[in-house]
Amino acid sequence: MDQYRVFGNPIAQSKSPFIHQQFATQTEQIINYQSELVDLDKFELAVSELIADNGKGANVTAPFKEQAFILCDELSERAKLAGAVNTLIFSNGAIYGDTTDGVGLVSDLLRHQIQLQKSKILLLGAGGAAKGVVQALLEQSPTSLTIANRTLSKAQAIVSQYPDQAIHAVTFTDTEQLSFDIIINATSAGLSGESLPISNATIKSAVACYDMVYGKHPTAFLIQAKTLGVKHIIDGLGMLVGQAAESFKLWRGVSPDIEPVLISLRTQLK
Ligand code: ATR
Repeated sequence: MDQYRVFGNPIAQSKSPFIHQQFATQTEQIINYQSELVDLDKFELAVSELIADNGKGANVTAPFKEQAFILCDELSERAKLAGAVNTLIFSNGAIYGDTTDGVGLVSDLLRHQIQLQKSKILLLGAGGAAKGVVQALLEQSPTSLTIANRTLSKAQAIVSQYPDQAIHAVTFTDTEQLSFDIIINATSAGLSGESLPISNATIKSAVACYDMVYGKHPTAFLIQAKTLGVKHIIDGLGMLVGQAAESFKLWRGVSPDIEPVLISLRTQLK
């Protein structure tokens, strides 16, 4: 049977085996997809063991996305821009790397009928999560994409990758003077329950606030947005399923339906 894995550390909490098993049942694909806890210095070994065991592909999560990038023989353009890989494809003795996080985010926003074209988008954060979605957002032709980060130089470094595009780097303080249609939180602040230094006025200007983090309870950022009456409040569960669907399509050549899987996951979270 064709083997697939998700490699990470930690990995016990991963929803990917459930998601891909549901996709496989839905599309009548015979695959075995498991999660695998990998020691921090054993990523390369885990990949070669999988290849030897009829592995056809893998997902890669924290902290291995950059190591996966280095390991690949070939990379998609979007993976090169992200500097990270979340999807590996093993074919003809080579390792091909791609990143599907950006597609996952954009497809989820569009599914919620959030208009990206001609919108002013604010992306909070300039770490791996932010870097992975910039190209996909720019492809939607927004009026502007503004990246705000605590450490301005990291936002500036991302912006410099996209010359001649409507993309800007700012500090959190700068955002107080600006208004946006969509605000996307790609910082890790939500994970640790911290709130972000972003003003109520800026949040209120948006029609949609999105947090890439998901969980049983909304993040501080989404609670703030909800309290301020922002119309669309969305967490990252749909992005998770969306990126998985894109990986599945790359591996199996069929597009699964994300809706029923999302409904099951939402129920499980409660
Ligand atoms: P990830 O892969 O999840 O993006 P990361 O690369 O460590 O993780 O990046 C974390 C991001 O969250 C960074 O943009 C970080 O800001 P800095 O670059 O200034 O460190 C941001 N971040 C984390 N905690 C934050 C907080 N409390 N307030 C504002 N930004 C925060």
